[in-house]
Amino acid sequence: MTSIADIPAHVAIVMDGNGRWAQKKNRPRTFGHKAGLKALRKVLEHAGNSGVRELTVFAFSSENWNRPKQEVSRLMELFMRALDREAKDLHENGVRIRFIGDLTAFAPEMQEKIRRAENTTAGNQRMTLNVAANYGGRWDIVNAARNTARAYARGEITLDQIDEDYFGRQATLGSSPDPDLFIRTGGEMRISNFLLWQSAYTEFYFTPVLWPDFGPEAFDDAIAAYQSRERRYGMTGEQVRRESA
Ligand code: IPE
Ligand code: IPE
Ligand code: MG
Repeated sequence: MTSIADIPAHVAIVMDGNGRWAQKKNRPRTFGHKAGLKALRKVLEHAGNSGVRELTVFAFSSENWNRPKQEVSRLMELFMRALDREAKDLHENGVRIRFIGDLTAFAPEMQEKIRRAENTTAGNQRMTLNVAANYGGRWDIVNAARNTARAYARGEITLDQIDEDYFGRQATLGSSPDPDLFIRTGGEMRISNFLLWQSAYTEFYFTPVLWPDFGPEAFDDAIAAYQSRERRYGMTGEQVRRESA
């Protein structure tokens, strides 16, 4: 029997493999992105029921603008439609939604929908869904450095006050605990510029399952793998086992 204590509080997911999933079915890549949205809905619900408090998903990277124009614009259309529909659903289910990334690159109408979804759900406490859109881990770190420099220039902090805690709070997700588990579907074993700062001590789980096929069972497999790990944070196994005894 696993207890709620063994469930990762914060899970990050690189939802990769939509395009290949569709291509295997001789369908356009956009078909895969639609299926990917359905998978997210199911995984979010299942994660919430399992006791996960926070889910951070990579929806669109700062590098994804380099894709063919048509794929990018189809993705934007999908986001626009999903924002209205999903925000209502999330709200009814007690989920707070937040977006991380440089949102200024999106159309004003989309930025407005994003703000509305965030505001509507801001008070929800059951679970948080962070959606990374036009997000890059290096952008995040540079942004934190800018925020820090600004505060220093204004005399709000001294050099000595700039430590890892302070700096981390200037990055996105600054008010959240770091992810415990980082899942990447689709078979690639790379971070692709996702949460670089925040995943310093996160457990990584890579699976060949393509994102649209990643359901509750596959999620449970990832949780089981996580639960079999020993998080040592630089200590020895003996120390860790003595502390948790
Ligand atoms: C991830 O799936 C979704 C986005 C990047 C928007 P991909 O579209 O990268 O799917 P593959 O990796 O080409 O199969
Ligand atoms: C990472 O997937 C970004 C998202 C899942 C949104 P990519 O498919 O863009 O990553 P690379 O290009 O294979 O590294
Ligand atoms: Mg991909």
